[in-house]
Parts: sequence; C-alpha cells; structure tokens
Amino acid sequence: MKFTVLSLFPEILDGYFQSSLMKKAVERGLITVEFVNIRDFAQDKHKTCDDIPYGGGAGMVLKPEPLAMALDSVGAGQKRTLYPTPSGRLFNQPTARELAKEDELVFICGRYEGIDQRIIDEYVDDELSIGDYVLSSGEIASLVIIDAVYRLREGVIKARSLEEESFSDGFLLEYPQYTRPEVFRERSVPEVLLSGHHKNIEVWRREMSVEKTKRLRPDLLEKSTSD
Ligand code: ADE
Repeated sequence: MKFTVLSLFPEILDGYFQSSLMKKAVERGLITVEFVNIRDFAQDKHKTCDDIPYGGGAGMVLKPEPLAMALDSVGAGQKRTLYPTPSGRLFNQPTARELAKEDELVFICGRYEGIDQRIIDEYVDDELSIGDYVLSSGEIASLVIIDAVYRLREGVIKARSLEEESFSDGFLLEYPQYTRPEVFRERSVPEVLLSGHHKNIEVWRREMSVEKTKRLRPDLLEKSTSD
C-alpha cells in the first residue's frame, strides 16, 4: 500500500515513518510512502502558498494553484484523495477498514484556515475529521489516519491481535490487560487470569469490556444493542 502525503512541513512526518512498526512495514515492502512539499510548486519567488480569504475573516487559506500542481504531480485525480479537516466526516474503525482496501491513498495536509474549496471540489474524495477538536496541523491528523489504516494491512501485525482489540467486536472497548509481575505495588493481577481456565477468562474479559464501555463510552453500548 502506498501513502502519498502533500504537506508544507514534511519534516513533521519523517520521524513517524522511521520508527517502530511502520519502519518495519516499510523495510519489508508492505508500505511505501512519498512526501511532496507543496511549497516546491509555489509560483512566485517568495514561495507563497497561502493568501487572505475572500469575504474577509481571520487566518489564511492555502492557495489553489500550488496545491493543484502538487496533486497533479502525483496523479491524484485517479487516486483516492483524503483531506483531513475538523469539518469532515468523523473517522472511525469501519472507515479505517474501508480505506485499508485501497492500494494507494493521497493525503492533503492543510494549515491555517484550510484550503481553497475548489481543490476540495476537484480532487477530494473524503473529508475526514479525527475528532471534535481543532489541531494546528493536518499532518498530525493524516498520521493518525495512516496509523489506523496501515496496521490493518495483511502482514503488518498478527491477525489475532486485530481480532481482540476495541471496536473489532461490535462496539465494546477492550478489556484490561496485565503482564508480569503478579503483584505490583500491592496491586495483584486478577486471579482468574492466573487460573489457566480459558472459558472463565473469556467470560471475565467480556464482563470487563461491558463494564468499561458502560463507564467510559455508554454511547457505544447503545449502538451495539440497537443494531
Ligand atoms: N485538522 C485540524 N484539526 C483536525 C481534526 N480534528 N481532524 C482532522 N483534521 C484536522
């Protein structure tokens, strides 16, 4: 799978692709990545990429021409193109699963007050928000989406790990996990996990999932019972 990321600050993205699981996925050829610096397509000697909004208002808007040229340079017209923005559809696990089926995704990282609407109209397939808050940078939102997507690709992590985690089993949060030592600062691992009794462990985990979901995300529980 290939991720192409258009950005004014590609250095923000660099470290992520050079660490941990993503680094391994790149080395193993499961993931390829291309960064495109939008500023390379600026058309004046000052390399201007933003301008004041028509109609007035605070902040700056990314100009359409450099973005369009950057998008054309990667063939974005023929590829699924995403624009992370707080005014997009809420990104979630089902959307991550759907995006993981694509061979290539193009990301536009916005800054300032956003990008010219004509770029969205012409190139963007999905406007996605990663949550109801405003980040200063589309780069971080792009990385969040990339992270949620690439780990679902075959071979990146064990299929079993994916099955057991939150959101894969309907709409329940994952149960609590423990590792050694058995007692840490006078807090013991729940006995059932030491019992070796698989059925009881399964029942306990399910109960914990339901309890945790009730406590932290009752909205998810309503969804799973009404479906
Ligand atoms: N850019 C800034 N804030 C964002 C958000 N919440 N989701 C996606 N992109 C963003």
